[in-house]
Amino acid sequence: MNPIQHQKGLIVITGAGQRVGLHCATELLQQGFQLAISYRKLTPGIRALQQAGAHCIEADFNQLDSMAVFIDALAPYPAIRAVIHNASSWQADRKESLSEGQTVLSQLQQDAAVFDAMQHIHARAPYLLNRALLPKLMAGPDMADIIHITDFVATVGSSKHQAYAASKAALDNLTLSLARKLAPKVKVNSIAPALLMFNEGDDAAYRQKALAKSLMAIAPGPDEVLQSILYLLSSHYVTGRILALDGGRHLQLP
Ligand SMILES: NC(=O)c1ccc[n+]([C@@H]2O[C@H](COP(=O)([O-])OP(=O)(O)OC[C@H]3O[C@@H](n4cnc5c(N)ncnc54)[C@H](OP(=O)(O)O)[C@@H]3O)[C@@H](O)[C@H]2O)c1
Repeated sequence: MNPIQHQKGLIVITGAGQRVGLHCATELLQQGFQLAISYRKLTPGIRALQQAGAHCIEADFNQLDSMAVFIDALAPYPAIRAVIHNASSWQADRKESLSEGQTVLSQLQQDAAVFDAMQHIHARAPYLLNRALLPKLMAGPDMADIIHITDFVATVGSSKHQAYAASKAALDNLTLSLARKLAPKVKVNSIAPALLMFNEGDDAAYRQKALAKSLMAIAPGPDEVLQSILYLLSSHYVTGRILALDGGRHLQLP
């Protein structure tokens, strides 16, 4: 791995082993950026990124020692052009009915586990990483970017993913605080997608219902996120904003 800075600079992407993160990492690499990414599972996508020259670092951001390994691995790079916080877990809330024999304590423990896991990956990990990587974001010759990938539900809530939605709302709020604190050297923005792509197990009925939620009625795929990242990287003026990628879903009223 060559830590010498490329002309276009180093982009750090968390959770780039699949889907949106993998697509963005692959394309940004092709466009001439230097890439350092985190992964947990060694997927074929990670092997391909390694072969293409990305620095792929194994890290679980729920564990502080593992996060420290990730940050240490970035030590040789003198500066960072952008950090993109993509790592995520779409965990549903516990079903509300108590199962037979379940105690109140075990119910609390299960709910707390979901809530803490969502806060850890979506709010605590970006908060800690941004603070640790700030000297490198400040060190480049030009401006730098922090991009938080959040979610449409951060602004409207969710019935079955309440803890997930609350944690993404926390991340949107960090966007505001950091944009205020770090301007004009570092721009800080959120990209908030609604449906981008389905999961393998999603059945036809679910897909139809999900598509009908937006005016555009499509699952546009990960390239919408890449194009938004490129737009934010090229802007000299946009900061402290939540860029909605939602197909007009906010207007699809009953
Ligand atoms: N897909 C959509 O339709 C959609 C809609 C709205 C918002 N978003 C947002 O867009 C982003 C990308 O979505 P996606 O569907 O591509 O996500 P995804 O398939 O769930 O991938 C997320 C990545 O995060 C990694 N990750 C999870 N927990 C981690 C941890 N504790 N430490 C380190 N890495 C961890 C995962 O690694 P492992 O696989 O190794 O666990 C995975 O590679 C996410 O922030 C998501 O919330 C997506």
